[in-house]
Amino acid sequence: MADLRIVGRAFVDGRILDEITVEIDGEFISSVSVGESGSGPRLLLNKGQLLLPSATDLHVHLRDWKQAYKEDVFTGTSAAAAGGVTTVVEMPNTLPPIRSSGALKERLELLATRAVVDYSIHIGALESVKDAVEALELGACSMKLYPTDLERLESHLRVSRMSGMRLVVHAELKGGDEPETVKMLLSRMKVGDDIRFAHISRAESLRMIELAKMGLGARITVEAAPHHLFLSSEELDENVRKISAVRPPLASRADRHYVFSGLGACSVDFIASDHAPHALEEKMSEPSAPGFPGLEITYPLMLTEWLEGRLEISVLVKKLCKAPAEYLGIPKGEIREGFYADLVVFDTRARWNVSAKDFLSKAKYTPFEGRPLLAKVVSVFRRGELVYDGGLMVKGGGMHVHELKQRYG
Ligand code: NCD
Ligand code: ZN
Ligand code: ZN
Repeated sequence: MADLRIVGRAFVDGRILDEITVEIDGEFISSVSVGESGSGPRLLLNKGQLLLPSATDLHVHLRDWKQAYKEDVFTGTSAAAAGGVTTVVEMPNTLPPIRSSGALKERLELLATRAVVDYSIHIGALESVKDAVEALELGACSMKLYPTDLERLESHLRVSRMSGMRLVVHAELKGGDEPETVKMLLSRMKVGDDIRFAHISRAESLRMIELAKMGLGARITVEAAPHHLFLSSEELDENVRKISAVRPPLASRADRHYVFSGLGACSVDFIASDHAPHALEEKMSEPSAPGFPGLEITYPLMLTEWLEGRLEISVLVKKLCKAPAEYLGIPKGEIREGFYADLVVFDTRARWNVSAKDFLSKAKYTPFEGRPLLAKVVSVFRRGELVYDGGLMVKGGGMHVHELKQRYG
């Protein structure tokens, strides 16, 4: 007898099937079958509901420590759960930053006690191979290079090549030209390198990356953030100008359409929120702090594109769930026997408007305020445990991806 059976419409094997039974045993999916089957407690979905894999977000800033007034690990991961995201990968630009094994260990201890969803960490730019090897042993996901780190690019590339540490880059040199920075980075890549471009926002950047992906023997991947898919500087309402300040800045309508087309064309590999909360006063000051929260609405925004007929559901599930889980090497992101039961029930007949005052994030503003959405998170399971059900159900329980990998295999 299963611990729980979820019965109803579900996304399985790349398509939606009307009547599926997903059996959960402990942390795992123990079977997926057509029709209603099995015995044990049952969650019966209604006609408007759809069971999907929950998402893995490779780019979030949970702040905490000296910036706990902006967000902390508990509120940030609660926002993740509320958005149907059950694994997050943190960026290292905390205060103090995560740029050593010592800081990484300390951060992991904090996450172990406070995170509601599973987690991993991108370590900051390291100068020595030994440090990188140590960070990998502790489970660091990859090494993040910020614009200021690009001055020492050769040294970081050496560390990455010698240790096998993957790279993630914020490609904006001082002055903020993304295509120019992307061009420079691509010219330095060699066969065997593994580099992920964070939050790509310009058509010109993506075109160069597309060519490099085809030709160069390096593993090049691309992340796109919802604000670069759906918002542009040209279409921006004047009263959200400060709220929508972000790095890289919002681009033109043509840029955002091009990045969006990269989802179907497979040049964009991952959708990541770049959840970057600040205090409202910091957003309203001059200049405005770049970034805003995104964890709670990324999945609903993408599903709304599907419900309005602009995007295939298989494409969005791949970029939000499957591909990022594969990047981390964990069995998540698909409703499949033997995978972790990381699932989300969506109401696909919802009609609601984004309202940041309801966010679980400490940052209660968004450039998407008021935007009509057609999909709403109902319930979220993280490794078989109900973590969100119209409200947060747990106080913690998130685990390090590194540990999950060891346990699984
Ligand atoms: C991020 C932040 O606030 O930490 N801000 C942003 O505008 N995206 C930093 C970053 O991701 O570059
Ligand atoms: Zn960045
Ligand atoms: Zn970021």
